[in-house]
Amino acid sequence: MTLLSKDQFGCPYLLLAPMEGVGDRCFRKAMASIGGYDEGVTEFIRVPSQPHIKSLVKHYESNETNPIPLAAQIMGSDPEFMSLVAYELALKGAPRIDLNCGCPSNTVTGRGAGSSLLKTPDLLYQIAKKMVDSVSVPVTIKMRSGYEDTSLFRENLLAAQESGVQFITVHPRTKVDGYGPPADWNRISEAKELLKIPVVGNGDILNANDAVRMLKETRCDALMVGRGAVINPFVFHQIRTAFSGESFQPSWNQLKGYFDVYLNEISPDMPMRNKISKLKQLFSFLFKGNEVLTEQRQTILRAAPESLDALMEFALPILKAGFE
Ligand SMILES: Cc1cc2nc3c(=O)[nH]c(=O)nc-3n(C[C@H](O)[C@H](O)[C@H](O)COP(=O)(O)O)c2cc1C
Repeated sequence: MTLLSKDQFGCPYLLLAPMEGVGDRCFRKAMASIGGYDEGVTEFIRVPSQPHIKSLVKHYESNETNPIPLAAQIMGSDPEFMSLVAYELALKGAPRIDLNCGCPSNTVTGRGAGSSLLKTPDLLYQIAKKMVDSVSVPVTIKMRSGYEDTSLFRENLLAAQESGVQFITVHPRTKVDGYGPPADWNRISEAKELLKIPVVGNGDILNANDAVRMLKETRCDALMVGRGAVINPFVFHQIRTAFSGESFQPSWNQLKGYFDVYLNEISPDMPMRNKISKLKQLFSFLFKGNEVLTEQRQTILRAAPESLDALMEFALPILKAGFE
């Protein structure tokens, strides 16, 4: 399969977005059990100023979501260290290494990484170029449209392209926007018009209609979905069937299987109250916007169960009502 190839029905390549704290191993494995998308990626691996490279990459497993490929995302600001980490990840089988130019967190941007790189297109170029030169797998960039404003957007895109990355994912909000205003899809169109390399569109795709609309409005080459998949794990199947014309009916059993995989992956060493808040976090997203669940969801989130089993027993009938 070539990079970002469409399926036989013309559905674009579908990527599951990186989501630190939400899109962890439990979620990625659960999503892989449902499938429907072409590729996933880890949440960012932070590369600090004095990294111990081997320990940074030790949790990455390229076969984690087999047969769905799992790329690795890294975040940092030192070109040399970033290229060394990229190299180690490629050695561990990473099919693609992504450079994070979007994370808004202050602890990250304080060190000049993540979205801060958007203030310095030259540094962004140097990091990406060094990564490209040190691995034989594709290097890509995921970026917001700017830091405080979008004045350097085009410059950043061109710097990224010049570095030799294979595609750029655009999440069209600035760092200052956070997640407040709607994603400005015009920026995806702008990137598409400016660049020769492919552009992956990302931001506010919640269903198949959004996906089709983004493609039509921006002419982007592929689609990436984040929160939409946490809200509706079947979203990729629904997008795909919008192209194939086949009908797709998600089944409750599939969703139960998804929960089983998720629960199975929660580390046994985690304290019970953390396990419970983790599962509640998943439930806080699931079927968001579904009117049947609006009030009932609060009952789940307020519940004080003693175990994960007790939480599941309490939540499943409520979620089932929302599902149906
Ligand atoms: C909880 C959370 C964590 C995120 N972590 C990352 C991350 O580690 N790396 C990254 O590039 N983007 C991260 N993002 C941004 C998403 O990948 C994506 O660009 C953004 O959510 C917009 O897409 P969506 O509307 O489909 O969710 C994160 C987003 C959320 C909501």
